[in-house]
Order: sequence, then C-alpha cells, then structure tokens
Amino acid sequence: MSTSTLTAPKLSIGPIALDVPVVLAPMAGITNTAFRRLCREFGAGLYVSEMITSRALVERTPETMRLITHHPSETPRSIQLYGVDPATMATAARILVDEDHTDHIDMNFGCPVPKVTRKGGGAALPWKLDLFREIVESVVDAAGDIPVTVKMRKGIDTDHLTYLEAARAAEGAGVKAIALHARTAADFYSGHADWSAIATLKETITSIPVLGNGDIWSGEDALRMVDETGCDGVVVGRGCLGRPWLFGDLAAAFRVRSGELTADEAVGLRAAPSLGDVARTLRRHTELLAEFFGDEDRACRDIRKHVAWYLKGYPVGHEVRAGLSTVKTLEAMDEILATLDWSAPYPGADAEGPRGRAGSPKNPSLPDRWLESRSLADASVRADIAEAELHHSGG
Ligand SMILES: Cc1cc2nc3c(=O)[nH]c(=O)nc-3n(C[C@H](O)[C@H](O)[C@H](O)COP(=O)(O)O)c2cc1C
Repeated sequence: MSTSTLTAPKLSIGPIALDVPVVLAPMAGITNTAFRRLCREFGAGLYVSEMITSRALVERTPETMRLITHHPSETPRSIQLYGVDPATMATAARILVDEDHTDHIDMNFGCPVPKVTRKGGGAALPWKLDLFREIVESVVDAAGDIPVTVKMRKGIDTDHLTYLEAARAAEGAGVKAIALHARTAADFYSGHADWSAIATLKETITSIPVLGNGDIWSGEDALRMVDETGCDGVVVGRGCLGRPWLFGDLAAAFRVRSGELTADEAVGLRAAPSLGDVARTLRRHTELLAEFFGDEDRACRDIRKHVAWYLKGYPVGHEVRAGLSTVKTLEAMDEILATLDWSAPYPGADAEGPRGRAGSPKNPSLPDRWLESRSLADASVRADIAEAELHHSGG
C-alpha cells in the first residue's frame, strides 16, 4: 500500500489527541472505572463513563460522586452527562470542570426507554430543537476549555428524524465532536444500525469529527464503518461486553490502516483468549469492581450480568455458569473457576458477534402533542419534562 492511500487514524476531540479513533461507548451499569480500566489495558482511545444525571450530580449523591471518580491510570478522563434542564446541566458541568473531575464531557441525547421519552427526555428531546440548543450551549459555556461532545440517535422514528438539525445546532454551539447511534428511538436495539445515516451526518457536519456508532463487533467492522461512512472515529458498546480485549483488536486494525503495523503483525496481536485467559479476566474484573465499590459482595453481585458474555462460546457447563451467577466472594469464585479447563482454546466465531441488548422495535412513548411543534415554547409540557431525568437507565 502506498502512503498516499493511507487514511489518518488519529482523532482529536478539541485538545484531546487520541492514538486510535476508538471510543468506548457509555453504558449505564457497565462502563464504571473498573470496566474502563480493564478495556484500557488492552487498547487505546477514549473510555467514557456511564451516564451521570445532572440532578444527582448537583445534589452530590454518594453514588454519583463515586461514579465520577477515575483511577489515576485513566487519562484522558471522560464523563457522560444527562439532563433536561439547561441550568442544572450547566451547574453539573461546572462541578465537573471547576473541581477537576474530567477532561471531557459527553452529553447523552439517545435514550429510547419509554419511561424517559414519555416525559420528553432522551431521544425525544432533540425534537424540541430550542431546548436541545439551550442545553448544549449552556454546557459548552460552563465547560470552558474542557471539550464537550454530544451523542444522539437518528431521531424518534423514521418520520421524525432529528439528527441532522440537532447536529448542526450542536456544531454551532461549539461541541467538539458528534457521535451518532444510527438507530431511531423506535428501533430500540432491533435490526441493524443504519450506517448510511452516519455517512449523511459526515457530509453535513464538516468542522468537527463525526463518530459512528452501532453494531461494531470486530476490528474489521470498525474499518468497514469508516470506509462506508467516512466517519472520523468509532464508538463501540455491546461488542466489548465480556470482551475487553476487543479494544486491542480495534487498535491493531487502525494501526494497520495507518501503516504502523503490518497485517501479519496485527493477526499475531489478535485476541484469541483461552478459557484460562477469560477466567483470569473475569476474576480481575471482579477485583476491580470490589475496589470501585469498596465492597466484595456488591462486586460479586455486579459481575453476574457479565458472566454469560465472558463465557459465550466456551465449553462451560450449566452448573458452573449458574454457580458464577450466584457467587458471593472472590474466594468462592476462585473455587468455581478452578474447575474449568483453562487450556480450552479460543472457540473463534462462537465467542464473537452480537451480545447484550437486542429486542424488537417499539412505538415511542411521547408526551401529548409532542410532535406538533419543534419548539418547547409551543408545548404544554415544561413542567413534566423534569421527570424525564428520574428513571433514566442509559441509552
Ligand atoms: C447496557 C447498556 C447501557 C447503555 N447506557 C448508555 C448510556 O448511559 N448513555 C448512552 O449514551 N448510551 C448508552 N447505551 C447505548 C450505547 O452507548 C450505544 O449507543 C449502543 O449500545 C449502540 O452501540 P453498539 O451497537 O456498539 O452497542 C447503552 C447501551 C447498553 C447496551
């Protein structure tokens, strides 16, 4: 390959320069400091916190103060904020910046959960372009030199797309990158992400990076998304569940693209963990969770949701899986893990591919008359929308 055909793999988000254009997607209940540290050990890029609600941060609830804490090895630090009120979001951003909690703030406008959209929050919010703009402007302003980005879906449903106008408004407000999960709220997590929307966004937004998100399960998928859409970087969520080593594959794929590695070198680096490697990583993940929660019992309860993802495709019987799903101490976990055949090799395709949330399309729940106007000023919902922050569980 001649150097002239190489595409630059680096990604800059404001002052943050990343070696590879890879972002760990914020995932509520998953991307805490424990999981981020684990992923970072395998790869490079930006690792976003799980979502923090602005009200909980302003109220400084102990859980939220724990969630915004980073380990010293985590640099650059990245926190995702969610909120529906410009003033509260600005106060939350000021806390993060003035008290030096982060190097980057991402804003979440993509939640499809009916409890949230029914009140006008999540993926329903950008429909009210005036409110969206007000929130983004207030956070960019409050964040000062700290770069702010937004993450959104395509819109409410195919008849009510919001992403292009919202992205233009966010670009105008001074955000430093825009990430698109190429599904609508109605799509939920069903079907395939519509990567053509990422291409359209990339054509529309020219002054800042566009990051593509949705259905990247491998390094090859990541390069294919870049090739098909022209996006400047990729955001990877479910693909890394139970596979933190995916970040090594993603980094290697982009380093081949940039000429830093040969294809043969990348094949040599490609993760093919034996069952023993998986057992060690599951154990380490639990240890990091115990450090994060300061509570071994809570760590053992939290790791349960990861067990099936880690063991996907490996020859592990039902009893062991059930035992790990009820384990209460690291010592008990060690006893169960010791019964596995640690030499069992990587099962290949059976351990790869889709995992995590899926499901079928849903009719989005919205406040009464929400779709009648693109302006919140025209609707009678101002009072209700505050409740859209209460039951939020991610994206
Ligand atoms: C368990 C889970 C929690 C999530 N929580 C958040 C969140 O807090 N904030 C957000 O912007 N998106 C959230 N998402 C959406 C992901 O960031 C991502 O946009 C989505 O999973 C699509 O990317 P993927 O196909 O790589 O998984 C969540 C997704 C999952 C599966």
